[in-house]
Amino acid sequence: MHIDEAIRSRRAIKGYDAGFTLSREEKNELLQLALLAPTAFNLQHVRLVEVSDPALRQQIREVGWGQAQMTDAAMLVVVCAQLDSWEKNVSRVWDGAPVEVRQFMAGAIDNYYRDKPQVQRDETMRSCGLVAQTLMLAARGKGLDSCPMDGFDFDAVAKLINLPDNHVIGLMVAVGKKAIEAKPRIGKLPFDEVVIRDRF
Ligand SMILES: Cc1cc2nc3c(=O)[nH]c(=O)nc-3n(C[C@H](O)[C@H](O)[C@H](O)COP(=O)(O)O)c2cc1C
Repeated sequence: MHIDEAIRSRRAIKGYDAGFTLSREEKNELLQLALLAPTAFNLQHVRLVEVSDPALRQQIREVGWGQAQMTDAAMLVVVCAQLDSWEKNVSRVWDGAPVEVRQFMAGAIDNYYRDKPQVQRDETMRSCGLVAQTLMLAARGKGLDSCPMDGFDFDAVAKLINLPDNHVIGLMVAVGKKAIEAKPRIGKLPFDEVVIRDRF
């Protein structure tokens, strides 16, 4: 599928064929594609919790507004991120670069994030969004459907997946085969209102 068509035909699908499954290999391929999304300073903040345990899926649904996508889609991914990746993973993600590059990046990263909790959190949310969208487009490219979700109790889901203290949840993404068509796109704001030339 051409990328334009994948973008145009991706819709937030709410109803899934619960009998449709994806193999571990198929899921891994989608997750690997998603993880090719860009991250600031190559920090790779995102952690993908792929929830395949049906009982856990049910518990997530119970704290997720009862949304059927959470149990019925072939794959459910909680897109999380490590808040202190900027401090913990610098040497690993720049491993292999020339020493002067590594030193420069270490300084730049430290300067960008240290003592700036808002920046640290904002960055994880950017990364989660980009990974989630990449996952959804990768899925669409394979003829699959998806739904991004933040309609759930974040604290309750964090408990259910044993989210470590230094991690946050960005959103969830369900991927599967649609059983219910999306309604026609509605209420699109005018292009000229949402595209600003040069300055607001
Ligand atoms: C951050 C985010 C959270 C969302 N949460 C939910 C959700 O909890 N449940 C749901 O059915 N759709 C959810 N959506 C999907 C939106 O409702 C949907 O993307 C929007 O209505 C536009 O429709 P489209 O994606 O089909 O173009 C969410 C979308 C985003 C980006």
